[in-house]
Amino acid sequence: MKIINTIDSLRYELKLKREQKSLVSLVPTMGFLHDGHISLMKKAKEETDTLVVSIFVNPIQFGPNEDLDRYPRDLEGDVKKCLENGVDILFIPNISEIYPKNFQTVISVKEVSKGLCGDSRVGHFDGVATVVCKLFMMVLPDIAFFGKKDYQQLLLIEKMVEDLNIPIKVKGCEIVRELDGLAMSSRNRNLTPKGREIAPNLQKFMKMGVQLYSNGENRASIIISTIKKELENLDFKIDYLEIRDKNLKIVENLSQGDIMFAAVFLDNVRLIDNLEIF
Ligand code: PAJ
Repeated sequence: MKIINTIDSLRYELKLKREQKSLVSLVPTMGFLHDGHISLMKKAKEETDTLVVSIFVNPIQFGPNEDLDRYPRDLEGDVKKCLENGVDILFIPNISEIYPKNFQTVISVKEVSKGLCGDSRVGHFDGVATVVCKLFMMVLPDIAFFGKKDYQQLLLIEKMVEDLNIPIKVKGCEIVRELDGLAMSSRNRNLTPKGREIAPNLQKFMKMGVQLYSNGENRASIIISTIKKELENLDFKIDYLEIRDKNLKIVENLSQGDIMFAAVFLDNVRLIDNLEIF
């Protein structure tokens, strides 16, 4: 595995790989790697020859009152996990490599950035689209892998690739969960022991919502208010709980394939999850 910090040496290394007709994949991350990230790496490794993983905590996707300063980091552990999972190139740029002085460009995917996380994290998706576009230009992978845990992010990247004619295939991968149902996330590390105990109830009550649908209730408002009440009783602070179709259009009456989206705060830690209605 090569650990690379500069765009020039990344491009040089990838040029050599391409000369060997190697298919290249990219898994962009912000580090503090867990099994969710590793599932993307495994998929990428199965489908391509050269796997590039990037670790970059992208400051421009964090709002001024968000958790950039306390975003968990463990570079040593991340390097070990990448080595164990067949990563070929680990790209760890510093901030000035990605955002040199006088950086001015913003990629904004207008409609997909509205609603859900886009409303509660103003500017977040511009930051995501900008950094992912830059990483795409640096690596030019054949395939890039993203998790469905960040479903709106996945749609945003797909739309950006379509609109800008970027010749990269984007693949979405299933959500990986802890045994108790909590969706894996680097931010779970910042939960207190009590918060960690309560956290799986988010998934539990979202599943209860799906059960209500199976039992014949298809009004989104009823299902949402029932789940909200349960979560608020457990001290979850709800940012949003919504049901939308797979293109993110709000639905009033549920049907199969719609998705329930949640963002909550527990101990000041923001958790997101989603669950397909089946
Ligand atoms: P990060 O939160 O580190 O996630 C990196 C990738 O791992 C994303 O595609 C995310 O959806 C996926 N992922 C995270 N948790 C997952 C889980 N439990 N199951 C499956 N996949 C999971 O998302 C970002 O970083 C950043 O916004 C980034 C795209 C790197 C741009 O800065």
